[in-house]
Amino acid sequence: MNKRVAILLSGGGSNMVALAQDMHGAHPARPVLVLSNTPTAGGLEKAAGMGIPAASIDHRPFGGDRAAFEAALTKKLEAAAPDIICLAGFMRILTPHFIARWQGRMLNIHPSILPLFRGLHTHRQALEAGMAVHGCTVHEVTGELDGGPILGQAVIQIKPGDTPDDLAARLLPLEHRLYPAVLRKFAVGDHSKVSLCA
Ligand code: GAR
Repeated sequence: MNKRVAILLSGGGSNMVALAQDMHGAHPARPVLVLSNTPTAGGLEKAAGMGIPAASIDHRPFGGDRAAFEAALTKKLEAAAPDIICLAGFMRILTPHFIARWQGRMLNIHPSILPLFRGLHTHRQALEAGMAVHGCTVHEVTGELDGGPILGQAVIQIKPGDTPDDLAARLLPLEHRLYPAVLRKFAVGDHSKVSLCA
């Protein structure tokens, strides 16, 4: 039986597309829902174009009430009965309560070599730290921000003169290889680490 995958995003959804395009044929999973906190997220249109049910729950009307926002998310998610949730550029911090509901079944992609450079502006953080390499990480989501067991990492070289945008542009294609490679294994219970180099 194929695993059911829900993908949460806030933006353009290029990682969602990479995941969804991989989920065909003998792949052990299928996308069942793409859900966004931003009604205008480009990823929603892309999902609909790929025939994947897409929905949004705008976080703004909830103000600071994260619990109420997450209750609405949970309702949508539960209706889709996912086995696995992939955060793919989902830019809302989730509460421990929500994370506990899905723990062990929720993955995230983060644009740094964790545990280095958690949070935002990771490309700038890597440049400011004088790093020779940069990368991305797919990890299980736990209560620790950008923490949780690492399932895969991909690495690129940093070249003289690189800007944050240069790093983002060179890293994204690797994100698109790493996340599907991890999901394929995770969906069959294989938590061994994936490593990729540009
Ligand atoms: C990706 O670079 C992803 O690693 C990052 O957001 C981008 C989403 O792009 N995620 C985070 O920063 C999470 N903290 P996409 O919408 O094109 O997949």
